[in-house]
Amino acid sequence: MAQTATSKQVGSATLTLGDKTATLPLLGGTMGPPVADIRKIQGDLGIFTFDPSFGATASCESSITYIDGDEGILLYRGYPIEQLAEHSTFLEVAYLLLYGELPNEEKLKSFTSGVTLHTMLHEQIRRFWDGFRRDAHPMAMLCSVVGAMSAFYPDSIDINDPRQREISAYRMIAKIPTITAWAHKYNVGQPFMYPRNDLSYSENFLYMFHAVPPQTYVPNPILTRAMDRIFILHADHEQNASTSTVRLAGSTGANPFACIAAGIASLWGPAHGGANEAVLKMLAEIGHKDNIPAFIAQVKDKNSHVKLMGFGHRVYKNFDPRAKIMQKTCYEVLGELGIKNDPMLDLAIELEKIALEDPYFVERKLYPNVDFYSGIILKAMGFPTTMFTPIFALARTVGWISQWMEMIEDPQQRIGRPRQIYTGAVTRDYVPVDKRS
Ligand code: CMC
Repeated sequence: MAQTATSKQVGSATLTLGDKTATLPLLGGTMGPPVADIRKIQGDLGIFTFDPSFGATASCESSITYIDGDEGILLYRGYPIEQLAEHSTFLEVAYLLLYGELPNEEKLKSFTSGVTLHTMLHEQIRRFWDGFRRDAHPMAMLCSVVGAMSAFYPDSIDINDPRQREISAYRMIAKIPTITAWAHKYNVGQPFMYPRNDLSYSENFLYMFHAVPPQTYVPNPILTRAMDRIFILHADHEQNASTSTVRLAGSTGANPFACIAAGIASLWGPAHGGANEAVLKMLAEIGHKDNIPAFIAQVKDKNSHVKLMGFGHRVYKNFDPRAKIMQKTCYEVLGELGIKNDPMLDLAIELEKIALEDPYFVERKLYPNVDFYSGIILKAMGFPTTMFTPIFALARTVGWISQWMEMIEDPQQRIGRPRQIYTGAVTRDYVPVDKRS
């Protein structure tokens, strides 16, 4: 797998506490601001640092994905997301994320056939679905079945064996589309469609999702391309909540299937990958353009706890480059499907326009993120809202695995173990129950 370039010391900062001074090395990567190395601060000054949501903390060195939130830049292994979305394919991007370089023709062919050969699930896994309720959320099924994969593929759970790590990666990239499509088939009571290895990665996913045995399935090239692009846009996003969850679970030595299941669980929340489903729910609740002002007023009222879903990002404070590509793809898909006036899209455009002019959002630098338009595209492509986050998970799997592999290969890797500010009771003596007031 790819080699990680290590950061270099580019300066130092000093921190003084009473009569003690600590020198903090400033580390520089290949791009981005310097980072103060605080690892010795406890030994030197006897204090910890406090950063509850890790907004100011780099948790690792990584050479996979770079984000400049002020400029709206997203690079995978140095390549701008716009160029990859325009010219590449999802499997080529998957290779790039995993191995660090774009493949030549021969390597791409071998990688594609390697992944494709793993699309089928162990037949016993099918029986998992008998245990789920028919209306089970597909994220619940995805999370459980991926976690259970370690029970079916014990020959690829030795994290110290590079070949086993690679096989587990191929297995998850290949099988998670099958699991995702089957979760949907189970929900709607249709037969599970077995993967077809004569189709491309995205064609095969659309086939397993949409096809039914009595009818011939003809892939639509524009929709297949849109699917592939959605996968590319979601493939990685550096140390977000779910990726950090995968790394933290992986830092304990847990097996790769368990780590990715942890990532899926973390992605599910509406502040993260669950936002695409939440955007459509929100648009449905708003219902009509006339209701937008009242909704915006609710969003601005802190006591309401209502957020404008699909807006805002921890890192992007200018625009989310993925949202721009997503908006373009949205028009392509609706055009191909002959949807001239989509009320959801009209509502989303109006909402976006109003929000982008409103001082509340302008002052807080809140812009549409990747999830604002993805739901509209996915809905038009025939996916129910509950499938939006599983599709995000499917695409993000390769990012999670690449980050997990990088972590395993990092010589600095130790178990992740944050500290805390304790605010509980001070030491006190146990009182027998009959003596308690
Ligand atoms: N609607 C209304 N107000 C918002 C929103 C929003 N979507 N996002 C942030 N704010 C406000 C927030 O209340 C705070 O206001 P104040 O300074 O008055 O207290 C200010 O903006 C700064 O926000 P924050 O909560 O400190 O920002 P954060 O970096 O902790 O949160 C976020 C980032 C993405 C969780 C948040 O913007 C959010 O909840 N957005 C809606 C959910 C969403 O679309 N998530 C998808 C993110 S992109 C894909 C992914 O990561 O999976």
